[in-house]
Amino acid sequence: MATELATEQSSSNVSPSQTITLRVARINPNTDNEKKFMDFQIPVQKWTTVLEAILEAKKYFDHSIAVRYSCRQATCGSCGMVINGKPRLACFTKISELNSNVVTVEPMNNFPIIRDLTVGFDRMFANHKKVKPFMINDETEVTDRTKEHIQTPEELEKFIQFAGCIKCGLCNSACPTMTMDSSFVGPQALAQAYRYVADNRDKGKNDRLKVIDESHGIWRCHFAGSCSQVCPKGVDPAMGIQLLRGYLLGFNR
Ligand code: SF4
Ligand code: FES
Repeated sequence: MATELATEQSSSNVSPSQTITLRVARINPNTDNEKKFMDFQIPVQKWTTVLEAILEAKKYFDHSIAVRYSCRQATCGSCGMVINGKPRLACFTKISELNSNVVTVEPMNNFPIIRDLTVGFDRMFANHKKVKPFMINDETEVTDRTKEHIQTPEELEKFIQFAGCIKCGLCNSACPTMTMDSSFVGPQALAQAYRYVADNRDKGKNDRLKVIDESHGIWRCHFAGSCSQVCPKGVDPAMGIQLLRGYLLGFNR
């Protein structure tokens, strides 16, 4: 049975077939002023993910829990949420790695809540689009499709980790500047600006630098570094931001 009791948090390890308390934030911004938490007792194995536990609660206790997911393999970027206080992918986080018998799931910070665990990505995607996240090259081979844009391993190394971004928004959720300035372009978009600026095949560098060099742009970042700590794909947005600043200040070319 689902309960709304605030059970006391314990921190013992989860062993196979144990039951944990899954504490789910519930909120409908159209009718509620603040989040409430509902507790569900969920049996878990050592391989059970947080997403699987939420779906178990949805299936057996309360089908109205709102949660977004798709690939279940850390690829689509849909299932970001705050799990025991830290932004993580629910499909990529095993209950056993949390070392707690109480698992609290909440919507990501710095995003508008749609309902329960789901948030709106419109602003993040608008900022992403603003930095032109695609190759700009006026030598595009429209006529000669046999010509390749050859890169050396060193040239590829400059940006390849940034190409792994799955647009999950965990970095924006962790960013303290985003909390203070809702117009800040954010680490996700800045990391993608760097990904293309650093690509020697691209010719759109000046356009992108102009977009991020504005009042709510790159200079708002005060290098907390929390974006890089939470990225599930090994992207380092904080480093990308520093390297982009190098381009703006003329240290990088
Ligand atoms: S940089 Fe990492 S945390 Fe940020 S959106 Fe991309 S994959 Fe997610
Ligand atoms: S469901 Fe696709 S990243 Fe988690």
